[in-house]
Amino acid sequence: MGILSLILIIGSIGLIGCGASQENKTENQAKEGTKTYTVVTDATFPPFESTLPSGEVVGFDMDLVNAIAEVQGFKVNIQHVGWDPMMNSISTGKADIGAAGITIDDERKQSYDFTEPYFEATQYILVPEDSTVTSVDDLKGQNIGFQSGTTGEKAVQKVFGKDYAGAKGYVDLPTAVNDMLTGRIVAVVGDNAVLGEFLKQFPDKNLKVVKDDRFEKEFYGLMVKKGNQELLDQLNAGLKKIKENGKYQEIYNKYFAE
Ligand code: ARG
Repeated sequence: MGILSLILIIGSIGLIGCGASQENKTENQAKEGTKTYTVVTDATFPPFESTLPSGEVVGFDMDLVNAIAEVQGFKVNIQHVGWDPMMNSISTGKADIGAAGITIDDERKQSYDFTEPYFEATQYILVPEDSTVTSVDDLKGQNIGFQSGTTGEKAVQKVFGKDYAGAKGYVDLPTAVNDMLTGRIVAVVGDNAVLGEFLKQFPDKNLKVVKDDRFEKEFYGLMVKKGNQELLDQLNAGLKKIKENGKYQEIYNKYFAE
């Protein structure tokens, strides 16, 4: 082929490059050896993850994952899929990393692998400000909401039993909180920092949180498919680096500065 057609070909590759979509860029980077991992979440859990009106998923977990990706030299593609689909897509290998304020627990450890813990949490009880509830025992016989499939559900079951008639599972915490505002349930059990965030976001709803020592300490980890040791090592190495270089603290302060 002549030199001219070669120049034309190179020229058009250049043009394609200019107009490349995010996906094409990702492909190009993959060719250069930069891996892209798909991160799935349930973006109904501020300040760990929520969706902006633009569709962008933001929050503590996203900053954390992006910071780890940066120090480890990989790319991430973050998707809000919902809680159960997140679990499924990690099991089936459709996605690589679950980042959703996921509590590391023994039951989940049988099906998934987790990084070292990156955040400490516990369950709190969200009630209307004028509620007389001061402990989980005060909820006996009443309707209690939580996000289905989470440690909030487990905490309620632990106190009131698996067949407790007042246990009401919801697809996410905001839906449960809405049902409390309409009076269908008297309380919502959920992760402390997130219920705290709802208090801040809805000061006009007259809500308060109640703490109870019966709820155990929990620790969040990033989740991968069981046996994906290579990715787990990458994530743990990155987590260690950002804890050492101050980046983790910076992210923490951004969301939890007093
Ligand atoms: N930490 C709790 C759990 O692991 C709740 C997590 C819910 N996360 C979310 N993004 N909706 O069960």
